[in-house]
Amino acid sequence: MMAAVTTTPVSSRPPTLVKTEVRPDGVAILTLDDPSETHNTITPALGGELTAAMDQLEADARVKAIVIRGKKDSFLVGANIDFVRAIRFARDAEEASREASKRFARLGQGPKPVVAYVHGPALGGGFELSLACTATVASDDPKTVLGLPEVKLGLIPAANGLLRIAERAGLRVAMDLGLTGKNLRPKKAKKLGLIDEIVPAPVGLDAACAYALRLAEKPTKKKKRAVPVDRLLLEKNPFGRMYLFRRARAETLAKTRGHYPAAERILDELERFSKKGFAAAADYEAHAFGELVVSETAHRLIDLFFAQTATKKDSGLEPNEKAQPQPIERVAILGAGLMGAGIATVSIEAGIDVRMKDRDDGAVGRGLLYVKDKVDAKVRRGSRTPLEAAKVFSRLSGTTDYSGMRRADVVIEAVFEDLELKHAVLRDIEKLVSETCVIGSNTSSIPIARIAEAAAHPERVLGMHYFSPVHKMPLLEVVRTSTTDPRAIATAVALGKRQGKTVIVVRDGAGFYTTRILAPYLNEAGHLLAEGVPVDVVDRALVEWGFPVGPFHLLDEVGLDVAAHVGGVTQAAFGERMKPPSVFAKLHADDRKGRKNGRGFYLYNRGKKAEKRVDDTVYTTLGVPLGSRNARMTYDEIGLRCGLVMVNEALRCFEEKILRSARDGDIGAIFGMGFPPFRGGPFRYVDVLGAPEVLRRMRSLEQRHGARFEPAPILVDMARTGKRFYG
Ligand code: NAI
Repeated sequence: MMAAVTTTPVSSRPPTLVKTEVRPDGVAILTLDDPSETHNTITPALGGELTAAMDQLEADARVKAIVIRGKKDSFLVGANIDFVRAIRFARDAEEASREASKRFARLGQGPKPVVAYVHGPALGGGFELSLACTATVASDDPKTVLGLPEVKLGLIPAANGLLRIAERAGLRVAMDLGLTGKNLRPKKAKKLGLIDEIVPAPVGLDAACAYALRLAEKPTKKKKRAVPVDRLLLEKNPFGRMYLFRRARAETLAKTRGHYPAAERILDELERFSKKGFAAAADYEAHAFGELVVSETAHRLIDLFFAQTATKKDSGLEPNEKAQPQPIERVAILGAGLMGAGIATVSIEAGIDVRMKDRDDGAVGRGLLYVKDKVDAKVRRGSRTPLEAAKVFSRLSGTTDYSGMRRADVVIEAVFEDLELKHAVLRDIEKLVSETCVIGSNTSSIPIARIAEAAAHPERVLGMHYFSPVHKMPLLEVVRTSTTDPRAIATAVALGKRQGKTVIVVRDGAGFYTTRILAPYLNEAGHLLAEGVPVDVVDRALVEWGFPVGPFHLLDEVGLDVAAHVGGVTQAAFGERMKPPSVFAKLHADDRKGRKNGRGFYLYNRGKKAEKRVDDTVYTTLGVPLGSRNARMTYDEIGLRCGLVMVNEALRCFEEKILRSARDGDIGAIFGMGFPPFRGGPFRYVDVLGAPEVLRRMRSLEQRHGARFEPAPILVDMARTGKRFYG
């Protein structure tokens, strides 16, 4: 419709990042469009142009109202991260925050109404800009989302958006959006009063213009929304607020362990807002933002963000390899268990048709139910309709034979971890599928080359190692053998990306990368236990170090039987260094399999809410001397022993070219194994601490505990030459 309306350029200045045009009806459209990027980001240049354009439009007598829009499919995704990462001094970041806040504040305070037309993502500063306008009209397009993801980069929103949310929707909504960084769909945002209107995308801009014109012609005072009773009780009286902040602080600290200061600053800012008002909180915000921008944590998280972005663009191939991924329409999955059903879920969610096979109707039925539950979860959360969910689920079908798999573009096997079984299903499926079909195995420990031995075309076979639960865990580790065809690799990588995974490609070898670095870490926890360090002390120490859960907790979840199997594989490949401590074998012999049989390091069947308690019979079974001085071993020592042994193994993987890059090693450890993100991954960790210092700590551990701490040769080398993993 817009094309039919003639427009007049406002100035003869060559368009750069901001363009303006005035419609005959008096609505000016201010378009943010950085031609060099897919998404608009906020830079001082964009800010300057925005202000200049606003000055001009406000002075232009023809203009009655202004609509700000973004690119074709993207509004504005926040501050330019390259710009933020390059800032050296806190006061420069503080100044940038104050300036952006000032530029945005004038949008809603000028003589003419300013409406943000949000189509596509409005994140961080983009969302903040829309909140500062007189009103926001958002398109109903699935691409339209609003959110404040700064906390994920170790930062806080820096243009007063958090405060505007608190003003409109209350402290709890502001806390929730600020602390989780989650995205809102327009419907939810409207319900919270954070946008004013939702319009169909095809006529969105016109609708926003009409909305702006209405505001200009009939300025209405914003209606005060009725404050819900619970908000009145909790947020509108000092005792309620005290309780609210105390609880939020405790919950935040339990999650961050003090390693992620941005979350605490968000709470400080909102508390100040509730006590001293907007201006005082805004002042605090700029100051806190300045300090966070130059903090180690933000640097590590931003580096990780860059690494993830680079991984997304990576084909997974070596520079000398050229291959295109095969188009993927149909995927066949063998095994409808935990992993098979999980892989089916992420595949149908990506729009791919899936055929899933198991041995009998019962197993297939359980798999289908698992997938349905995951697909319906979005209906329960209100982010999709039952009809949409039914459409997604209709892409999946189940079978107990190989029917309907002939035309699969990729087959993924997730049957039991048994080489003979994997050979059998591989032979069966290869007889059926086309020559171009790629076959992935989700084995967690069997070398892919062993599995591929049964294939008539081993070049099409590779590892596709997903993590449990598949719909939540972000990593896919693609494993190539010496014979895997680049086309198969490119296809597996492309499939993983479509499923929303961050994908790394590693070379085949026992435990690949992720399982291999996990093995010595778990072993070290076992050594500590054997020395008399209590189970819960080890777990707590590693959670303090930054892992999401401790090693014994993890072992209970994975299953001690599975861990024993994997421990055997890595020991067979790497010898003494990876020898599991005898405590694991003793507990396995005592029929402890972890949560699944209710017998592990912790007590189970104690009711959902019961606090986790260690099963003390573990100590008697092991004959471990509790109460010795080791019971008081420091968290630092425990963290260092388990953390460094993992780092050292990662370095060996790099040296042996299991890994393609340090970047992949950091991504794999963080997204696959829960290595603390604020430490940046094993390779960043070495760079930040310095190879000589890491070497000194390894040598000291080697002296005290023996050869399993022998430093990786590359560490010795780097300590000598001063080389770093990242330039
Ligand atoms: P599971 O026991 O939940 O599922 C395996 C399924 O395979 C069962 O439903 C079984 O009936 C089915 N199956 C057995 N023979 C079959 C055949 N001939 N045709 C079709 N289906 C058959 O096991 P889970 O945990 O899903 O593991 C599957 C694979 O994924 C294993 O290789 C495991 O090592 C690997 N893996 C497991 C992870 C985990 O955390 N559970 C993580 C990463 C990999």
